[in-house]
Amino acid sequence: MSELESIARAMVAPGKGILAADESTPTIKKRFDSIQIESTEDNRQAYRQMLFATAGAEQYISGVILFDETLRQSADDGTPFPKLLTERGILPGIKVDKGAKDLAGAQGEKVTEGLDGLRDRVAEYAGLGAKFAKWRAVIDIATDLPSDYCLEVNAHALARYAALCIEGGIVPIVEPEVLMDGDHDLRRCYEVTERTLRTTFAALHAQCVPLEQIVLKPNMIVPGKKSSHQASAGEVAEATLHCFRRCVPAAVPGIVFLSGGQSEEEATAHLNEMNKIGGGPWELAFSYGRALQASALEAWGGKAENLPAGQAAFLHRAKCNGAARSGSWTEALEKSA
Ligand code: 13P
Repeated sequence: MSELESIARAMVAPGKGILAADESTPTIKKRFDSIQIESTEDNRQAYRQMLFATAGAEQYISGVILFDETLRQSADDGTPFPKLLTERGILPGIKVDKGAKDLAGAQGEKVTEGLDGLRDRVAEYAGLGAKFAKWRAVIDIATDLPSDYCLEVNAHALARYAALCIEGGIVPIVEPEVLMDGDHDLRRCYEVTERTLRTTFAALHAQCVPLEQIVLKPNMIVPGKKSSHQASAGEVAEATLHCFRRCVPAAVPGIVFLSGGQSEEEATAHLNEMNKIGGGPWELAFSYGRALQASALEAWGGKAENLPAGQAAFLHRAKCNGAARSGSWTEALEKSA
């Protein structure tokens, strides 16, 4: 097995998943605003250190996605964050895209930027200890959206990014996110996700990306947040697996879902149902941002004396999602915190 394939497999090791802690500076400001904390470099360092130093989290967390600033920061004792994670058996990763920007000539649609200079940035990040990377494409659902144009340019960029990561010796997380915003139903999310995945894998194939060396980070098939027809965890799991069996080649080692605005408990319940059904050729894991951090952020509240409470909340979510990796999450475990 190639080194990149073994890293990709370690990222989706049984019982484990990824913490997405790669909020960009504007995004972490939004999260800190919600707890009335100023987004200073020191506060960002303190918050990330709390998460990364949580004792026991390594049982459930295989890797952490970092933002550029965080990859270069250190713990209070001077240990660089990538080293701290590596010493605990957690793989450090890095967000390398430069965000979703308006797509020219396509009202309401976005394309993710960041390819220029990426070969050099990948080399630098690999030197700083990153073992994997992330690039997120954003696809919105509306009556006439997404256009094929939007899907194609985003897939093309994802494949170019993936090829450059593999050349530079790090595993690419390929993230085409179909947003949950809107009032569309589950069926419509299925259709758009199917088109998105087909277009993404066609581009990966066209650009000679070895699928054994990537990890896919997609949305689940869920109704829009404003839909009047909400779905049960069983319906979400059935629809998601049905779609993915059609679109995701068996060579891909694992699928790490994003939470995308689902509550912590919903994200866990959905993953748990999927793993109960099982039977797919890939590992079904998680790469949650909000669904691993919401309670921890609130319990911490920016106060040093709340660090143990923040870590306990994070560890609990990590444990629940770790259990969902094998379909063994229960209400009793959920309430055991
Ligand atoms: P959420 O789980 O909060 O959607 O974040 C995951 C992520 O990394 C989105 O790019």
